[in-house]
Amino acid sequence: DWTATNVIDEQVALIQEQIGDARAICALSGGVDSAVAAALVQRAIGDRLTCVYVDHGLMRQDESAQIEKAFGESTGGARLIMVDAREDFLSALAGVTDPEQKRKIIGERFIRTFEKAQADIVRESADDPHAPDVKFLVQGTLYPDVVESGGGDGTANIKSHHNVGGLPDDIEFELCEPLRALFKDEVRAVGSELGLPDEIVWRQPFPGPGLGIRIIGEVTAERLDLLRAADAIVRAEMTAAGLDRHIWQCPVVLLADVRSVGVQGDGRTYGHPIVLRPVTSEDAMTADWARIPEDVLARISNRITNEVDGVNRVVLDITSKPPGTIEWE
Ligand code: XMP
Repeated sequence: DWTATNVIDEQVALIQEQIGDARAICALSGGVDSAVAAALVQRAIGDRLTCVYVDHGLMRQDESAQIEKAFGESTGGARLIMVDAREDFLSALAGVTDPEQKRKIIGERFIRTFEKAQADIVRESADDPHAPDVKFLVQGTLYPDVVESGGGDGTANIKSHHNVGGLPDDIEFELCEPLRALFKDEVRAVGSELGLPDEIVWRQPFPGPGLGIRIIGEVTAERLDLLRAADAIVRAEMTAAGLDRHIWQCPVVLLADVRSVGVQGDGRTYGHPIVLRPVTSEDAMTADWARIPEDVLARISNRITNEVDGVNRVVLDITSKPPGTIEWE
């Protein structure tokens, strides 16, 4: 019988067998898959697991703090290292407008930052001959990822769309992937059973490169602040309307290089448009634009144009996928 409890018992035993007395590291993305993988491994090996969260500065409002808090509540005992790499990512992205170039830079920065954290963890205990080897890398790989990447032999073969942005081929770690046989809905059931908070278990997909690919144009600190403010309004209103579980996700996009004329109070404005991209989907391969109730859209539009300085227009993306993709970049 498939039950979340059975999966947990079985996986905890398998993880203990695989990892033995060694230590493990897990890169948390803030998403459900890496969180559930970390919680399972924590249950199996306790404080011999260290989690690393790289704050690249491209997260949404308060998101990194929420992830830290949710982690503390759900995986008591495991250690979490928060790496503040915001400056580093921002300067690497200066002047870059091409979407694939952005992805490449963000993925590359992520790998370098994570490697540095790994090296620090290994170095910390270098003088202690009894410290267990840091030998395993925990990944939240799901069954569909395994199928898509054509892996199956345990080698790291991670698609570039993966949350962590792809890891280097020459990693010296053995992979521990306790979710390899599971689908997303099963991962959510396991996460619930493990006591992870709903914000994590039901979190909508969010791309690894974050807001970096939702600013059409160059990524700057000011533009990130503006987009964060607009996005926070959209998320708050969607949640208040009870729509979170009815849609797949709702990217909020800043057209940073477009300006249009508007009027506000008794003055002319010349501001940027914000695009709402709510979609429904089963697996993100195809998607339809979500029919959000008009009153919710009206509230979002009013609030964004009133509360976010520099935005004077809100537009709704009504393109399905294909031909559109979910993200604009
Ligand atoms: P697209 O835009 O290709 O998105 O229709 C499909 C799904 O993938 C997410 N997405 C990404 N996730 N790194 C990620 O981890 C990426 O570079 C990336 N690009 C898109 C997107 O949010 C949607 O859920």
